[in-house]
Amino acid sequence: MKTLITGATGYIGRAVAQRLLTAGHDVTGLARNELGVRTLTTAGIEPVHGALDDADSLRAAVEGADAVIDTASADHAASTTTLLKAVAGTGKRFIRTSGTGIYTDLAGGEPAGIVHTEDDGYTPIPPLAPRYSLDVRTQEAALTGDHTVVLRPSMIYGYGGSEQLPILLHASLRDGVSRYAGRGLNRYGNVYLDDLADAYLLALEHAPAGSVYNLAADECDFRRIAEAIAELLGFEDAVSATAEEYARALGPVPAAGLGSNSRVDSAKARTELGWTPQGPPLLDELVHGSYRRIWGPKSVTITVAPGQAIV
Ligand SMILES: NC(=O)c1ccc[n+]([C@@H]2O[C@H](COP(=O)([O-])OP(=O)(O)OC[C@H]3O[C@@H](n4cnc5c(N)ncnc54)[C@H](OP(=O)(O)O)[C@@H]3O)[C@@H](O)[C@H]2O)c1
Repeated sequence: MKTLITGATGYIGRAVAQRLLTAGHDVTGLARNELGVRTLTTAGIEPVHGALDDADSLRAAVEGADAVIDTASADHAASTTTLLKAVAGTGKRFIRTSGTGIYTDLAGGEPAGIVHTEDDGYTPIPPLAPRYSLDVRTQEAALTGDHTVVLRPSMIYGYGGSEQLPILLHASLRDGVSRYAGRGLNRYGNVYLDDLADAYLLALEHAPAGSVYNLAADECDFRRIAEAIAELLGFEDAVSATAEEYARALGPVPAAGLGSNSRVDSAKARTELGWTPQGPPLLDELVHGSYRRIWGPKSVTITVAPGQAIV
């Protein structure tokens, strides 16, 4: 089976592409420029020219594939529409990448008791309604016989990258302080990148048409994340920020998200797909793992003579 992956040069898509290749799948990746073509070729992924805003290129890319995994954007309505139309009536599987960000509650650092399941009926806050409606449209395509699936990754971490942790790390490095919103008791689900890639492979091979999966292996509050960042960067402690301070430091949209709860139950992925996440816990990765290697203080050791070193 040849699977087209959009966003294959990105954080999620690249990991998914490598996981599929390892499992013996043929993979093509959408590349919107020459850099993308070279990046994919170097990674052993067959590039296909195309861009989310170029519907013709998307249709052509889908034509040459047996399945489509869309990881480029959770919010690009026009490309989702094009891709859904392109797979309609063909029997080609389509996996949409959404995110558990749809459960954002603007809690400002306060905790929430609700743990969301995929099927509990939900009304998102207005800014996330468009993303949620793309989930619903994707799911509903199964009602007319298409094999569509929605995956909602939670806060992804690993390999020193992703979206949310680097935002916090950048701001902390720049300002010399690691902040959390208010009391920092808001909790977010999280998932290690390799475990997420496993979930995509399992979904491609086993997910029933019309299914939706929330993908989190664990959860953590943002005060503990901020404290881990403080430890990583050698600050005395993390500090509480008012809503205004947090928005000024991170930007209003990230601050709203990172002050929110997004707690999910992923039992469905475990039981239906056999998903067994095994990655290192987020806080370990931050303090001792890839984030320390990439973001932490560097100590250089130069050996000047046997038994002597300048550190
Ligand atoms: N990271 C997380 O924790 C997380 C969790 C849940 C959901 N999500 C969502 O998942 C999506 C992907 O996340 P990511 O972390 O993988 O992002 P990323 O690293 O920025 O990757 C985005 C990918 O999409 C491609 N792309 C973007 N716009 C495009 C366009 N107009 N035409 C063609 N390709 C385009 C990029 O190509 P180029 O290389 O050419 O730029 C890149 O390959 C985002 O919508 C994000 O909000 C992320």
